[in-house]
Amino acid sequence: MDSIQVTPTTASKINDVDFKNLGFGTVFSDHMLVCDYADGKWGIPKIIAYQPISLMPSAKIFHYGQSIFEGMKAYKDANNQTWLFRPEENFKRFNISAKRLAIPELPKEVFMEGLKALLKVDEQWIPTQDGSSLYIRPIIFATGEGFHASPADAYKFIICTAPSGAYFAGKVKVLIEQNYSRSANGGVGYAKAGGNYAGQFYPTQLAIDKGYNQVIWTDDNTHEHIEEAGSMNIFVRINDTLITGPTSDRILDGITRKSILEIAKDEGIKVEVRKFTVSEVVEASKNGSLKEMFGAGTAAVISPIAGFGFEDVDYDLPELDNPMALQLKKRITDIQTNKAEDSFGWTVSV
Ligand code: COI
Repeated sequence: MDSIQVTPTTASKINDVDFKNLGFGTVFSDHMLVCDYADGKWGIPKIIAYQPISLMPSAKIFHYGQSIFEGMKAYKDANNQTWLFRPEENFKRFNISAKRLAIPELPKEVFMEGLKALLKVDEQWIPTQDGSSLYIRPIIFATGEGFHASPADAYKFIICTAPSGAYFAGKVKVLIEQNYSRSANGGVGYAKAGGNYAGQFYPTQLAIDKGYNQVIWTDDNTHEHIEEAGSMNIFVRINDTLITGPTSDRILDGITRKSILEIAKDEGIKVEVRKFTVSEVVEASKNGSLKEMFGAGTAAVISPIAGFGFEDVDYDLPELDNPMALQLKKRITDIQTNKAEDSFGWTVSV
């Protein structure tokens, strides 16, 4: 690949940012990486100031939602070294999503070299406060024009970043969904397609109106199998066994999910990757064997669930002194931020 052209901003916003009070994904770093697909090939990426993009109203993204994204984070360690966590996994999943949405796959060097170059240019934007990181959003969307319902002939790949703190503040209360579905067999549930998330907003708002924070997604056919927690994978702990559902057409192959499974095994925790049901969780809650539930994803890392609602009954999770959720969260974030040894070979220095 030819070298990436960098045109630095002439008006950095970094001094306006309160790095001690970061929300999640609300302030954006000075630069972005942009790469266009046209005439059957991806071009040379360039780094320019973070700025608006101009699109025709007939661009297919607006009509048919042909768009995908990834979620990643960059961290700084005590020696000011920048780290990425399993970026190859994000790259692989990005192209799995691209294929499903009939978007041309992106060359690896455009993603990897582009990302590393962007992180070097915006290095000062990587926060160092505990619990914060630079949240990274690679996206591809259809810029090609046309009302014909078919794949576009032009696309834009962008990486933009946001110094961010926690995604959720505190524990969340969830509603087990019995009507709406996030995904279906043969569908796009396993892909990080923008529309998968848009489709969650309405059912989630209905749950919020009832006093919950998030929806627990169940399978579209029977609504009996527990599949995901909002925009995260879900884990339950029954007695001392950690359980999560197997990935499928309907469940995202979460990088945090698979890292937690490996860390848990390494810590001697019994793990089961198997289908599990609403009845099993309700029964376990009633007999006291349900100890923990938590969501897992890049943005939230691990988000403990305080209680769940099902068929108009609320079930509370016990308050534990040493929950597995915290133990696992500490181990994974220590690895990500180079505070603990990475015996898995997951972290990549930039
Ligand atoms: C992430 O966890 O990084 C995601 O992409 C989910 C998003 C809704 C925040």
